Amino acid sequence: RADTKAILLEINKLAAQYYYVQLKNEQGAHALAYLKNRELSDDTIRAFGLGYSNKYSNDLYQYLRSKGYQSEMLLKAGLVSMDERQGVYDKFWNRVMFPIMDANSRVIGFGGRVMGDGKPKYLNSPETIIFDKSRNLYGLNRARSTKKPYFLLCEGYMDVISLHQAGFTNAVASLGTALTAGHASLIKRYVQEVYLTYDSDEAGTKAALRAVPILKDVGITARIIRMEPYKDPDEFIKNLGAEAFEERIGKARNGFMFSLEVLEKDYDLHTPEGKTDFMREAARRLTEFDEEIERKNYIEAVAAAYHVGNEDLQKLVARMAIQAG
Ligand code: CTP
Ligand code: MN
Ligand code: MN
Ligand code: MN
Ligand code: MN
Repeated sequence: RADTKAILLEINKLAAQYYYVQLKNEQGAHALAYLKNRELSDDTIRAFGLGYSNKYSNDLYQYLRSKGYQSEMLLKAGLVSMDERQGVYDKFWNRVMFPIMDANSRVIGFGGRVMGDGKPKYLNSPETIIFDKSRNLYGLNRARSTKKPYFLLCEGYMDVISLHQAGFTNAVASLGTALTAGHASLIKRYVQEVYLTYDSDEAGTKAALRAVPILKDVGITARIIRMEPYKDPDEFIKNLGAEAFEERIGKARNGFMFSLEVLEKDYDLHTPEGKTDFMREAARRLTEFDEEIERKNYIEAVAAAYHVGNEDLQKLVARMAIQAG
């Protein structure tokens, strides 16, 4: 078993090297152009070991076989598939390859992106005995040595890479999955604070709201950075640059205040009844702070943010608490 792990790590490493060489070869020219078009530098491409899986149907398989690995092991690594018609064939075909590394920079799997509009946009290695998606984070091998007291947690591979290239070397991403308790405890080994920089669409907003309590459960303070009017950190940086991103970090909202901002959209705060209903729901949520000091501090913050009297809000929260029983 321990042997199998070591072999799977070797296979993934060789595959990463193979894809990297393909990117620099003639047949990878369009893939390299794709990455250049997305404004990645040669240094960045090297640092993240980006590569290209070419259009031959089983050359990676042939290459790894020539290195002495059995088909059974290559199937276990998730880099090839098998069916009766085609025999054994490469899983990744004509994609830009993102090697996924563990905290110690060992390649444990891949994400592969189509260069056009094909589906799926990203194809990922399946989970294997070395690739547990809920216990690894993209970019952690580099982010772990940051001197900042927090990580930037984003959605995608390209977000992490763009942020690192722009000097934000504390960026990590979960691997196409929602944040799990496993991710949270992993982060906690390195930092006690997280700034969430998820996509600005509805899915990203929901994911951020779900991530806050998961982080809080392990004692990590979460703040949320808004990417509007852009879709994600990658596009934000490309359009507005690193300084503007730094400003957004400065303007990050804590999880609770962010959840109220999301809630605002369901009410018309310009009418007395709309604002009253909104404040009732805000007060109900404030009752969920068990610690008195924390509750008081949030009441103060909410009262100030929404221009209502601090004591009025305190009374409302007290009444909601009784109602909630
Ligand atoms: N993802 C995935 N499979 C998909 C789509 C997305 O695994 N079919 C994961 C990838 O890790 C991706 C992340 O979810 O990076 C975020 O998805 P999305 O926002 O759609 O992609 P971007 O990272 O913005 O990719 P790009 O900028 O290349 O379009
Ligand atoms: Mn191939
Ligand atoms: Mn998204
Ligand atoms: Mn993107
Ligand atoms: Mn995105």
